[in-house]
Amino acid sequence: MNTLRNKVAIVTGGASGIGRATAELFAAEGAAVVVADLADASEVVRGIEAAGGRAVAVRADVSSETDCERIVTIAVQTFGGLHVLFNNAGIIRRQTALEISADDWDRVMAVNVRSVYLMCRFAVPAMTEGGSIVNTGSGWGLKGGGNALSYCASKAAVVNMTRALAIDHAAAGIRVNSVNPGDTMTPMLRDEARQLQEEWAVFEKDAADRPMGRAGTPQEIAAAVLFLAGEASSYMTGSALVVDGGGLA
Ligand code: NAI
Repeated sequence: MNTLRNKVAIVTGGASGIGRATAELFAAEGAAVVVADLADASEVVRGIEAAGGRAVAVRADVSSETDCERIVTIAVQTFGGLHVLFNNAGIIRRQTALEISADDWDRVMAVNVRSVYLMCRFAVPAMTEGGSIVNTGSGWGLKGGGNALSYCASKAAVVNMTRALAIDHAAAGIRVNSVNPGDTMTPMLRDEARQLQEEWAVFEKDAADRPMGRAGTPQEIAAAVLFLAGEASSYMTGSALVVDGGGLA
């Protein structure tokens, strides 16, 4: 209940899926949470408050420099500091090099990669007592995958940026790790099925090919993020934690 007591956390992409589950878990573990999303996250915040937690919703585009600065400013002004940053907002385009437009390529890179740089640029100076940054990579950032060239490139960048950030900011007491989920039951997965024009039932069944015979839940990813965010992982930085039911095995 108290893993993040007296901590202030930012969760990007917190209105849905993995981000939502993590914002709820962080709050249940005592953190005051800034739930930032392009979409309206006020329902998530109401749920956290109803459970006795503290949170604020911020409507923001993490590919925007001014929005990233605003998210960090709101965290510091509302809750008095910053200790944890979960860079989680992301999008996917299920297209090959022959299919994806240059504009869509740039958008994937802006939302998945540029956002991590921008959020760190503003968050690191605000983490005056040290802190923990967790970036959402993907199993596909480590091993690649089909029909998702921009996404695979972006997530590989996130994994390696995590190592670079870890080196740069270790002396300031800031740890930086990535969590790398396999298929996880969120709206993004349904969006992928739509993009590929596959029946959801068929797409969902593919998850049963995993060694554990199912996809993960957002809560199972959130549990790993909490581990990386808190003191239990105090000697981990620059690492890529895989949470994929054995998909990389
Ligand atoms: P989701 O689609 O449920 O949630 C993503 C959230 O990010 C949404 O609330 C969306 O509004 C927000 N978002 C999108 N663009 C944004 C922007 N420019 N600024 C602010 N917020 C923005 O997806 P899910 O599955 O929860 O994804 C979370 C992260 O996990 C993503 O980085 C995704 O790439 C990664 N991931 C997901 C996997 C899965 O199977 N669901 C597997 C591996 C990685």
